[in-house]
Amino acid sequence: MNCKLSVNINKIATLRNARGHNLPNVITVAKDCEKFGAQGITVHPRPDERHIRYNDVLELAQIVTTEFNIEGYPSQSFIDLVLSVKPAQVTLVPDPPDAITSNAGWDTVKHASFLKDTVEIFNTAGIRTSIFVDADTRMIEHAPECKCKRIELYTENYANMFAINPAHAIAPYVTAAKKATELGLEINAGHDLNLTNLHYFYTTIPNLAEVSIGHALICDALYYGLQNTIQLYLKCLKTS
Ligand code: PXP
Repeated sequence: MNCKLSVNINKIATLRNARGHNLPNVITVAKDCEKFGAQGITVHPRPDERHIRYNDVLELAQIVTTEFNIEGYPSQSFIDLVLSVKPAQVTLVPDPPDAITSNAGWDTVKHASFLKDTVEIFNTAGIRTSIFVDADTRMIEHAPECKCKRIELYTENYANMFAINPAHAIAPYVTAAKKATELGLEINAGHDLNLTNLHYFYTTIPNLAEVSIGHALICDALYYGLQNTIQLYLKCLKTS
């Protein structure tokens, strides 16, 4: 199975916002990521717009030719934005508005009815919905109740443990992925994936459809350049 690389360009907006002008230009960077081989562009608009702004999302929707993925907490303003843009995919994340970055997956039991109602809105609009979850069998088992098509496995624990013991780090993700496939869910993954840990993740997790990578990829681009960096990440998503 071909696994797509979706580049999260929030860090580009963060850099731009530091100076108040339009450099780097997120539209140009998104186009370049696609030109250099990325198969998707991800953005995570937050209510305070400290990274990607709602207006960026509207502009990106006009130019992204690969898969556009909008992730975030489904507040009413987020839902309205996604419905107006109609991206290929929306990824629902349970992060509070002031979170530095996503720091947990959904509790699919506790938030079952909220997720079901929210996913239905996007399903009705023909937008594929993915929900961010920990590699926790119980959370995966209850994911189909909300009628999402995909889950995104939250990979921070894997990334943290990878340097110490890769086999141990990945074990819960293999179990989670098998369970998801058994339940008919497609699988994405993201958070703290990088050039060191991505290939092992990809070759060990069955049926990985997509990874979304931001922080490490943009950091690597400082040294290798964006084009080389994207090629290096794509190489990690090959079996040999
Ligand atoms: N997936 C989700 C749901 C996220 O919130 C983030 C961070 O915005 C990522 C993937 C990408 O994580 P990273 O920036 O560590 O690559």
